[in-house]
Amino acid sequence: MDKDNPESEIIETAAELIIRGELVAFPTETVYGLGGNGLDEHIVAKIFKVKGRRPDNPLILHVYSREQALSLVQGLDQEAELLMDTFWPGPLTLVAPSREKVPEIVRAGRRLASVRMPDHPVALALIKRAGVPIAAPSANLSGRPSPTNAWHVREDFEGQISAILDGGPTGWGIESTVLDISYKPYKVLRPGAVSIEQLNALLSTPVQLGEGVATALHYQPKARVLAIEKGTKIQELTAQMLSNGNKVGIVIMPEENIPQGLNMIVKIYGGAEEYGKRLYDIFRTADQENIDVILMELPEEVGLGAAVADRIRKAAQKA
Ligand code: TXA
Ligand code: MG
Repeated sequence: MDKDNPESEIIETAAELIIRGELVAFPTETVYGLGGNGLDEHIVAKIFKVKGRRPDNPLILHVYSREQALSLVQGLDQEAELLMDTFWPGPLTLVAPSREKVPEIVRAGRRLASVRMPDHPVALALIKRAGVPIAAPSANLSGRPSPTNAWHVREDFEGQISAILDGGPTGWGIESTVLDISYKPYKVLRPGAVSIEQLNALLSTPVQLGEGVATALHYQPKARVLAIEKGTKIQELTAQMLSNGNKVGIVIMPEENIPQGLNMIVKIYGGAEEYGKRLYDIFRTADQENIDVILMELPEEVGLGAAVADRIRKAAQKA
């Protein structure tokens, strides 16, 4: 699709699919979403089923306007409005008391629902034309990395969904920041593309860092991931891994001496921003190449780097 001027016939067709109760994957500025009519519990049940998602893990409702968001959640004060003014459309998901019309299955039986207005012309046009909020998790099978291009979606859902709107690679590559604003101080349930520093610059009380619903279920590649802190002796580490017969990959930021004999080398010159864009594709590639161990240098944990490091650490956790 033409990302900046979405073709109206394609939007029309996709919106009709949504209204008819089918699933359509679409690009957002973070990652691709797997969308369906968020007000229809049967369709939302289908999203959970196709994705293999645990029923206790709620879905984000995607909206195209603030009015639409306020028809789904309630009890927002001025500070919440300020967040919407500042970050919408954009990668900030707000978790707030649900209105009754949101089906329980969307919020996994919880009192709180989540809403976000994506900063992507294709997503916004689709939601607007469909006329309903679109429930959409990231468009990956549970246990796979989030999709950052249409091919990733196809890899996971070929033959299973009605359409994929191909808007090219996504912008951030890292998911939205999930912020619980149902009480103060607000709580970050998932670090993401909007940084903690950006939130705190705006809010009267700094955000707390909290646990998300499903932190135990994070994506882990087949390879063992070693999160590499600054100053780690990577030459010795890789030599040892290689001599044990492992296929070893490395993801590294500055220009350093890259160890010899590696099976996969990814150099990130563009800091956390480039790292975020490429992270999930690196995981998918490592899986395809049957890499046994990936050494991943951690970015400096400020701004977007905190969200990138969060994903690397979670991938590195032992199950
Ligand atoms: O960037 C994104 O947020 C992407 C794009 C497609 O919008 N979506 C996405 O959805 O990452 P998903 O389902 O893969 O992750 C949503 C996260 C989960 O960790 C979920 O537990 C949390 O948001 N979440 C959603 N609704 C919630 C709620 N009502 N209360 C608490 N956490 C919620
Ligand atoms: Mg996801």
